[in-house]
Amino acid sequence: MRLKLCLIGLATVLSWASIGLCAEEAVVLTPKPGPAPRINGARIFGVRQGSPFLFAIPATGERPMTFAAEGLPEGLKVDPKTGRITGRIERRGEYSLILKASNRLGTAAKTLKIVCGDTLALTPHMGWNSWYVWENRVSDKIMRDAAEAMVATGMIDHGYQYVNIDDCWAVKPGSNDPALQGEPRDERGMINSNKRFPDMKALTDYIHSKGLKAGIYTSPGPTTCAGHVGAWEHEDQDVSRFIEWGFDFLKYDWCSYENVAGGKGLAELQKPYRLVSRILARQPRDMVLNLCQYGMGRVWEWGREVGGNSWRTAGDLGGSFEGIPAALFRDGFDVYAANDLQRYGGPGAWNDPDYLLLGWLSDWKGGTARTPLTPNEQYSHVSLWCLLAAPLIFSGDITRLDEFTLSLLTNDEVIDVDQDPLGRPGRRVAKKGDLEVWARDLEDGSKAVGLFNRGEADAEVEAVWSELGVSGPRIVRDLWRQKDLGVFRDKYKALVPRHGVVLVRLRPSKT
Ligand code: GAL
Repeated sequence: MRLKLCLIGLATVLSWASIGLCAEEAVVLTPKPGPAPRINGARIFGVRQGSPFLFAIPATGERPMTFAAEGLPEGLKVDPKTGRITGRIERRGEYSLILKASNRLGTAAKTLKIVCGDTLALTPHMGWNSWYVWENRVSDKIMRDAAEAMVATGMIDHGYQYVNIDDCWAVKPGSNDPALQGEPRDERGMINSNKRFPDMKALTDYIHSKGLKAGIYTSPGPTTCAGHVGAWEHEDQDVSRFIEWGFDFLKYDWCSYENVAGGKGLAELQKPYRLVSRILARQPRDMVLNLCQYGMGRVWEWGREVGGNSWRTAGDLGGSFEGIPAALFRDGFDVYAANDLQRYGGPGAWNDPDYLLLGWLSDWKGGTARTPLTPNEQYSHVSLWCLLAAPLIFSGDITRLDEFTLSLLTNDEVIDVDQDPLGRPGRRVAKKGDLEVWARDLEDGSKAVGLFNRGEADAEVEAVWSELGVSGPRIVRDLWRQKDLGVFRDKYKALVPRHGVVLVRLRPSKT
């Protein structure tokens, strides 16, 4: 592997970046899931009264496997073969279930709390989005292949749920591509999909038939960022259309709203989001709402209040392909720390620093290229997102996942940090030059801690108990390797590679 990367680096001899890459091996740290059953993913799930319910019990382990759920509220049932819980809950309240997954090696059990009320997204969303690999080439087939891949790669068994179409599914006025031409709306004013999406209802049925959920995108303005038809002055109709098509998630992207907003005051920034969330609240189906307006007007301060289940905290992380590593540190680490974003995220409403830019991405020249993030930057990317309680939405090519990329996406102990039911986002607790320590409180009283090195050379990073707000001996567990490292009394230090991370969890120890 090292040799191969070096050869690529020397053959292209593009820059120091490509030569730097040749020194760094893509080492898989995540252990392969064992054959015994393990139930993964969220431990708390929100739904509204009377909405169609779908929760697929995510479990790794040898198949065949059978599933059960004890304590199901009235109106829900579990399919013992697929582990899908479906139905409708008619009574608001909290229900505590015991999920079970069994195979020839034994049974795993885990509690799941279902909260039937007004709040969705009680943990950050997990899924895939088409934008960063397919951009304006997205089609029905691409979405179906993505759903299939989410199952075939096993991502679904680790809690990934949403398969989301980004921009470019609607008609594009003025386009010279026949597939994008046509009537933007039907005679009733309902929005049409373009010819690449011949039957949206059949597509979401297909995605749901895999135990997954489907997402769609539009803009409150007349057109989307890529110039396709948006929802301006048709908001009610478009939401009805998405509901009739069977979507479960809406990304609402500001874009051309700029031209009709009448200013950039707070009221104007909030208006389209207030409007759409009011419309969504009336629907007979749950749709998670993602606000995409790049952090304008300190959206984190009001994103929850206007009905967002998440809000983008900055511009596009992959706006420039070569710029992704710099954007990771700027928009991932610094925007968050400078604004104390941990104060705003929580169950039902999350800070969204954009998608996981791993694996094969669009090169914006009509082709694809491997992420420009080095292997250690990729570990930093996923680790930080989990510490921040950010949505884990992968946006590389899900049909071309190499072992390393899949290992980054499917480490259950790392995902457990992201999906922790307490839902308290982490924060930067120490910064000494390029060395940073980030920490997140978890429901069981333990702490997830990331030791990051943003410098250009390997360095020792220290997590000091007093800075973390803990005292006494702690068992330190390496989450990527899923291995206990020992008991430490007042600090833990590790050698961290250039732009890399060591992610640990600290539990009180009796010794
Ligand atoms: C941008 C948005 C991206 C993507 C793109 C589609 O405004 O931030 O995530 O959705 O539009 O055109």
